[in-house]
Amino acid sequence: MRNIEFFDTTLRDGEQSAGVNLNLQEKLEIARHLEQFGIHVIEAGFPAAAPDELEAVKRIAETIKDARVAALARAHQKDIDAAWEALRLAAAPRIHTFIATSPIHMEYKLKLSPDAVLERAVESVRYAKRFVSDVEWSAEDATRSDWDFLVKIIKAVIEVGATVINLPDTVGYTQPSEYAALFRYVQEHVPGIENVKLSAHCHDDLGLAVANSLAAIEAGVTQVEGTINGIGERAGNAALEEINMALVIRKNFYRVESTLNTRHTVTVSKLVSKLTGMVVPSNKAIVGANAFAHESGIHQDGVLKHALTYEIISPEMIGLRENRLVLGKHSGRHAFRERLKALGLGTIDEATLDQLFQAFKVLTGKKKEITDDDLLALALDMSGQGKTYELVNIQCAFGINLIPTTTVTLKLPDGSLKTESATGEGSVESVYQALSRASGYALELLDYRIQSSSSGEDALGEVYIKVQYAGGVYGGRGVDNDVIIASAKAYVDALNRLALASRLKEEALVLQDGESV
Ligand code: KIV
Ligand code: ZN
Repeated sequence: MRNIEFFDTTLRDGEQSAGVNLNLQEKLEIARHLEQFGIHVIEAGFPAAAPDELEAVKRIAETIKDARVAALARAHQKDIDAAWEALRLAAAPRIHTFIATSPIHMEYKLKLSPDAVLERAVESVRYAKRFVSDVEWSAEDATRSDWDFLVKIIKAVIEVGATVINLPDTVGYTQPSEYAALFRYVQEHVPGIENVKLSAHCHDDLGLAVANSLAAIEAGVTQVEGTINGIGERAGNAALEEINMALVIRKNFYRVESTLNTRHTVTVSKLVSKLTGMVVPSNKAIVGANAFAHESGIHQDGVLKHALTYEIISPEMIGLRENRLVLGKHSGRHAFRERLKALGLGTIDEATLDQLFQAFKVLTGKKKEITDDDLLALALDMSGQGKTYELVNIQCAFGINLIPTTTVTLKLPDGSLKTESATGEGSVESVYQALSRASGYALELLDYRIQSSSSGEDALGEVYIKVQYAGGVYGGRGVDNDVIIASAKAYVDALNRLALASRLKEEALVLQDGESV
């Protein structure tokens, strides 16, 4: 049976989701989980975009040993130089270079003739081959490109050494049978194609990313690209955990092998959701909260008599019942550290570990059962963004027939403390007004979500927000026993991400030709 390789781009295409800005620590944590999940290729980022992006890819490349690490580069020498600089220490580096091949992209975005695009594609692959043997080449917007032009350019890049050919459905336009036909056409018309890996990369604008990826697998591709939970720009990318389960559950149909560690599915999904603030819809396939909930009497009756009547996947298969009661108030630091490692949080430094252990001890006084989800929530609370702003104090009064009023004290970037009060229509609004006054930043609240880390009245409250400021969208998250304090922490987290992004923007390399990824 053919082996299907999984190429994860959560840290590159996924991070392009509006309002998602991961810091270095968060990227490393996700990369380690992807490695544990058995992902074959981790696309760690786009190093030419900014110095911190290069640094993050470098750190991931140094850390990951059991997966290939890929870095994205446009068809420019400086992008490829940056990709190589970031990948130098990787155990198995891959440079992923791309150029658009559709008439609309070539004419309006690149302002290049098809011949010039072909020349640049060939030059970029040839240049990348100076540094690495493994070079993936992508035809951006392949599904709106002329098939014979694709055949011509693929032939040319294979001749200069491309090892993987990726045909992305960049705008989520194609249909399953059409995408399969494209791959068959290319396999029939490109000599030597059997010596390279063929790859599918789908976006979900028409809700077909997973279906299109599976159709491509049926048509013979051996690599499939996507993200955890399907996060990504616009409607997102193909959800890798869904593709994997389709291959596992319908192995007799697809007749291909998936070697992913399926039991790690829920853990990696939760981590990505919490770190990115992209909440998984409860009805989402495989990892949604309701994916195994049986509501109707007929279904409940059937499942009780035989689980397979209404369940095609067992919860254990994806690691759903492994959220064990792990630690209690007598647990020591060593057991605590080991559990964090098992959760993939082994990169936490000693100082943060101390803080986290203290927070855990405080929590054991308030909460009877400490689950993996609680530990994850605590760890997320600690792994803020370099704490440019800090919430020092907060007092909030609200109730029926009372005007909600909040006073906050905020530590500002220069170290000074600022105390401000404000009222609002509701308690959270008064908190946000007070923080806005104290920080001097009036962030526009686009989205506010609250959820509990586990079940029970004593569960931790997790608040996720999205805010807009000067045209940029930033995420923020906060965790606390008290949801008002969690809300305040989420706002401060968003302030810190805004501060970090502003600093990075100043450092960013100027993109010369207006191309973006
Ligand atoms: O969707 C796309 O075309 C991409 C390429 C850069 C591979 O993400
Ligand atoms: Zn993409």
